[in-house]
Amino acid sequence: MDTESRLKHLQEKLQAIGQSHLLSFYDELDDKRRQRLLEQIEALDFRHIPEWVQHYVKDYTAVALPTSFEPAPSYPARPRDEQQREKYAQATRLGESLVRQGKVAGFVVAGGQGTRLGFDGPKGNFPISPIKNKTLFQIFAESLLAASKKYNTTIPWYIMTSPLNHQATLEILESAGYYGLNKKDVFLFQQGTMPNFDFEGKILLADKDTIAASPDGHGGSLKALYKSGAIADMRRRGVEYLSYWQVDNSLVRIVDPLFIGLHVLDRSEMSSKALLKADPLEKVGNFCLVDGKVTVIEYSDLPEEQALRRKADGSLVFELGSIGLHMIDAAFIERLNRGGDFALPLHRAIKKIPHIDAAGNPVNPTEPNGIKLETFVFDALPLAEQSIILETIRSEEFAPVKNATGPDSPEVTRRMMIERAAHWLEQAGVAVPRKADGTPDCVLEIAPSFALCADDIKEKADRVPAIQPGQVLYLE
Ligand code: UTP
Repeated sequence: MDTESRLKHLQEKLQAIGQSHLLSFYDELDDKRRQRLLEQIEALDFRHIPEWVQHYVKDYTAVALPTSFEPAPSYPARPRDEQQREKYAQATRLGESLVRQGKVAGFVVAGGQGTRLGFDGPKGNFPISPIKNKTLFQIFAESLLAASKKYNTTIPWYIMTSPLNHQATLEILESAGYYGLNKKDVFLFQQGTMPNFDFEGKILLADKDTIAASPDGHGGSLKALYKSGAIADMRRRGVEYLSYWQVDNSLVRIVDPLFIGLHVLDRSEMSSKALLKADPLEKVGNFCLVDGKVTVIEYSDLPEEQALRRKADGSLVFELGSIGLHMIDAAFIERLNRGGDFALPLHRAIKKIPHIDAAGNPVNPTEPNGIKLETFVFDALPLAEQSIILETIRSEEFAPVKNATGPDSPEVTRRMMIERAAHWLEQAGVAVPRKADGTPDCVLEIAPSFALCADDIKEKADRVPAIQPGQVLYLE
């Protein structure tokens, strides 16, 4: 189709969905910019946009809470009785064997915009380790390298970016030489985007040739893994299970044989790790059972009286929080995508969205002015035939870098990294000097090459020098 007919065709399609303004500046653009704009318009989901405008902009009503829901069952972090101890041992052996056979890959979602942290560039490039200032990406890469060595295998790494940070992420990995990983074992792919709307349901323009759009949420990963060929790549390699984590979690244990083993033993299609909530209103999703299916109910949707309910022993009824750690079967992702029109529910967020106005002038809003739509990966849990939950311990596995200051800030994360290192060393019998308030009186950093978990240290405790108060000690 020549450009004229293409333009005419798109004008008609846009008119039919009330979005003709997207071509308002077309005549002012040079040829290259015209092509750019037409390509973006062609990529719009014309079939669904009217429905999104209706449901999420004009007539929005929050999703109703299910009429009946209960807390989801889970495996405790430590086995409760002998039978469970045996199952955990069996699962751990199975998990280790699957890793050794090359059936497990790492998968990080790194397509987010990281607006709260306000860091310039992909969040994975944020320097976080307490002594060496390693970036999140470097810590993950070194962990994969160390686990590959430990299990005498290759653990491929799938990384989801978004069109907003793909090139930057690629450049970071290239210039770091993939932190020692084999480039062919790192698979980068991009997630999809969703157009941003103003409060009237009009799609915003970021520039005269650019539609304002944002990544389609971490839920977009389940589509993007399939569309990008990542799943096909896994199949070629014989990988069956993905260990999923989020780019801001500096304490993630990517390869956890127990979690992998329980997931596979119980024939779960998608499993989750959960935390016991630190307080009833903690801002994490709540693991519930709805119609027998594991479902995450967001903190903002769980009525306060439910969130505050306690059991006879004083613990919370809804005590399990979701922290973005999952095991996912490649076959589950294939099953979801096979029909072609698989979609997770959309969630809307009211945001400040920079754009140009009808006269083409840039607007940098100081108040929220529009709506972004995204999907969440945990909304796929109820679609799984089987789904299990394993509780984990916060100080061992969860320290997200979300905010520049305060809770979930780099400062808190670094402290947690030092605390975990101290705890691992103490478990191996190494004395760690502590201050009167109980915090370590030293700065510690353990490289993944030295230990991936507390047990790894036990074998090499004799290589750790005596730690003096105030010492700065890096172990690799
Ligand atoms: P967050 O919910 O923290 O969002 O993402 P964010 O965009 O990174 O940060 P804010 O809210 O703007 O401050 C949790 C995880 O999901 C990934 C992020 O990269 C992070 O690992 N994510 C989020 C995606 O990969 N794509 C998305 O569209 C959204």
